[in-house]
Amino acid sequence: MCLACETLLNPVDVDAFTQRYLDILNSGSISMMISIGHRVGLFETLRQTGPTTSAELAVAAGLNERYVREWLGAMVTGRIVECDETGSVFSLPAAHAAVLTDANATNASHLAQFVSILGSVEDRVVECFQRGGGVPYSAYPRFHGVMAQESALTVVAAIFDRILPLVPGLIEQLERGIHVLDVGCGKGRALQAMAGRFPNSRFTGYDLCEEPIASARAEATARGLTNIEFVQRDLTNFHQDAPEAEFDLVTAFDAVHDQSRPDHLLAGIRRALKPGGTFLMQDIGASSNVAENRDHPIGSLMYTISCMHCMTVSLAQGGLGVGAMWGEQLAHEFLRNAGFLNVSRHTLEHDIQNYYYLARP
Ligand SMILES: C[S@@+](CC[C@H](N)C(=O)[O-])C[C@H]1O[C@@H](n2cnc3c(N)ncnc32)[C@H](O)[C@@H]1O
Repeated sequence: MCLACETLLNPVDVDAFTQRYLDILNSGSISMMISIGHRVGLFETLRQTGPTTSAELAVAAGLNERYVREWLGAMVTGRIVECDETGSVFSLPAAHAAVLTDANATNASHLAQFVSILGSVEDRVVECFQRGGGVPYSAYPRFHGVMAQESALTVVAAIFDRILPLVPGLIEQLERGIHVLDVGCGKGRALQAMAGRFPNSRFTGYDLCEEPIASARAEATARGLTNIEFVQRDLTNFHQDAPEAEFDLVTAFDAVHDQSRPDHLLAGIRRALKPGGTFLMQDIGASSNVAENRDHPIGSLMYTISCMHCMTVSLAQGGLGVGAMWGEQLAHEFLRNAGFLNVSRHTLEHDIQNYYYLARP
């Protein structure tokens, strides 16, 4: 270190940042343990057993006690689970159970899985930093399942009471019967919910990936839905191959920014809409200017998810890689360039992550 730097360095600042860095290491690790706890049902079991030992908890959850005990160590030091003075009786406070279990409709424990999914592709992302290119969807075998869990919370749970009412008269149109397209539909849970509720309307879902489309078809069949179809389709050239004036409503739930060509997709949606139709786009709420995202409540999480998933899957397709944090200024610009001149942007209380855009030509 040079002499000038040494004299400028304030030890209080170094200590403060060291503390911050330790917090980061603790939080990063505990995310992975929350993910595991969610997957093996430990939060739910702990809520049901009440105060319990690691041995009893392991039996109740059907798990290996040694692993459960170490997991409890991480949970106690992470201030998620409480333990008695002997360190042998563990409990999940009701307020924590409300966030991490089905004690509340908004069980958010699944969200931590995104951190582990991203960690599983770190080697491939490092290669991309060095050589460019991207990591394809096939490298994330668990992504679509976890995404569907998130969608259940932000979209499916709110679709009838909060999201569709953003468009005046839309519920009545759906009841009478219209044709709806969902682009980048994934496992298609939102579309299935709508198809069940509005039997006079027809629903179509497009997605690039085979696995979520096959799963969406199987689920729709199991639910006896006959007014819905799921099509595996690459929307990279949707500006050229979109059907003309076919749909009354097009939706995109958290799906535009990670397309290979969001510009082509939006132009295709414009073309596929019937006159008077509406495009409803849910996408990450942020500014296109990073400086304005400094106080974003989940900014670092979203830039990380972007870099290690949304941006890189787009680049892997030879796409633009705008990233999850492309922001509302760029979203408005893309919508305008696609011919959507009438655009309004909304927020919904249940969803701190996204903006809702209503777009018409
Ligand atoms: C973040 S997920 C959202 C999935 C779903 N809408 C939901 O809310 O659960 C984005 C989706 O876009 C799809 N996608 C990405 N690139 C695509 C492309 N070129 N053509 C069609 N779909 C694509 C992905 O397969 C993925 O299912």
